[in-house]
Amino acid sequence: MSEEKFKKIISHAKEYGFVFQSSEIYDGLSAVYDYGQNGVLLKNNIKDYWWKSMINMNDNIVGLDSAIFSHPTTWKASGHVLKNEKRIGEKFDLNMFLSTNERAKKYNSQINNLKDRLNKALNEDNLNELKQIILDNNILCPISGSCNWTDVKQFNLMFNTKFGASLENSSDLYLRPETAQGIFLNYMNVLKTGRMKIPFGIAQIGKAFRNEIIARQFIFRMREFEQMEMQFFIKPGDQKKWYEFWKDNRMKWHLSLGIDQNKFRFHDHEKLAHYADAACDIEFDFPFGFKELEGIHSRTDFDLSNHENFSSKQIKYFDPVDEKKYTPYVIETSIGLDRMFLAVFSQSLNIEKLSDGTERTVLKIPKILASNKCAIFPLVKKDGLPEIASSLKDQLKLKYNVIYDEKDAIGKRYRRQDAIGTPYCITIDHQTNEDNTVTIRDRDSMVQERIPIENIESFLSQSLDISNWL
Ligand code: GAP
Repeated sequence: MSEEKFKKIISHAKEYGFVFQSSEIYDGLSAVYDYGQNGVLLKNNIKDYWWKSMINMNDNIVGLDSAIFSHPTTWKASGHVLKNEKRIGEKFDLNMFLSTNERAKKYNSQINNLKDRLNKALNEDNLNELKQIILDNNILCPISGSCNWTDVKQFNLMFNTKFGASLENSSDLYLRPETAQGIFLNYMNVLKTGRMKIPFGIAQIGKAFRNEIIARQFIFRMREFEQMEMQFFIKPGDQKKWYEFWKDNRMKWHLSLGIDQNKFRFHDHEKLAHYADAACDIEFDFPFGFKELEGIHSRTDFDLSNHENFSSKQIKYFDPVDEKKYTPYVIETSIGLDRMFLAVFSQSLNIEKLSDGTERTVLKIPKILASNKCAIFPLVKKDGLPEIASSLKDQLKLKYNVIYDEKDAIGKRYRRQDAIGTPYCITIDHQTNEDNTVTIRDRDSMVQERIPIENIESFLSQSLDISNWL
């Protein structure tokens, strides 16, 4: 059932210009996606909703836009390079396993079963089952020849590239696997130039890159994706209080969108990352089950202390109240923008049976996030109706993304907007010529109201004003 639903979500996202497989004309690039004309608008609205909740709603949080490239030592200090180097030969590498497909040919009769089992495990992210497949099939490590595998793990391998004009003078550089390090590198710059006082936060939205070995499930796990991260710098010892504060704050943000609260749950980490003293995920009930949507991590002073050691520069805070210098602790909130997109999109897609026996496909995206806020239709292409519709569009278009549509019967036009989640459809009809009123139809209830044309702007702003949501 949910597999069917997931397929429907993926095909709807493509058919209506939300998400396309990258490089599709060349048969696609695995785990890389492009956002189409409606997808980019939804994505921008999610960014805006997050950004305003961080920057505009908090006097002590400021923004940043750091470069994707950073000095290679960054990744030694953050622990990413070490982690990746240690991996080789020590842990199970799925790529190696897949390349043993040749070897698997000798199991001719079993190969299809094996493929099905492998695909199922990959689709379900079932790492225990992957290990069991290796053991059941006596797959040996191509390096050591042994069958002594550790547990299967997801690795976040970094992409590297060359930096410099000529090959001889170029140096190795990584594409960032998280945006957080750009914030740590700029901590001192922001502290000084922004005259910040602890506690304070730095928020940033940007691309991150991970050469994921198991990259499946549409835009859930991508090789190029976007993160919305916030590092909150605090006094050491205060981390428990602020960790709880941000857990609560972030869950409230999700619920402010009006999505069913049963779709969210916390998952506390028992095994902590090398940098954390507490961590949890906000999980969302995706079509393939509850999975991580956002991480909240108490990162101690791990990053700042390491950058201090590796750079030999002072990265401290002078506390004017205690008259003491210290390295701040950090609480991090980190959400994948693409995962948020998938969460919103997947829970919004509904196929409804109508009272007349027909069906309608409707994307009930929270109205504040909807790609286009309204569509304007002249009932017919004559009698001055298109002119009134166009001038209403001109009046609204800088405030909202507005669609003008005069093709096909009105019912068909409504269905087109339902399928891309447009909250309101405004129809200009002959009565408009008589009394300057229009009908406005609500996407979710399908109820039509007749209101004066001059009230449209205030109607929309009441429904779509962000301060009524956040
Ligand atoms: N700075 C901390 C950090 O990067 P993470 O748990 O590795 O922590 C944070 O990533 C969030 O980024 C995840 O909760 C997820 O939403 C998103 N994310 C991570 N890897 C991703 C991928 N390959 N594709 C899409 N989103 C991803």
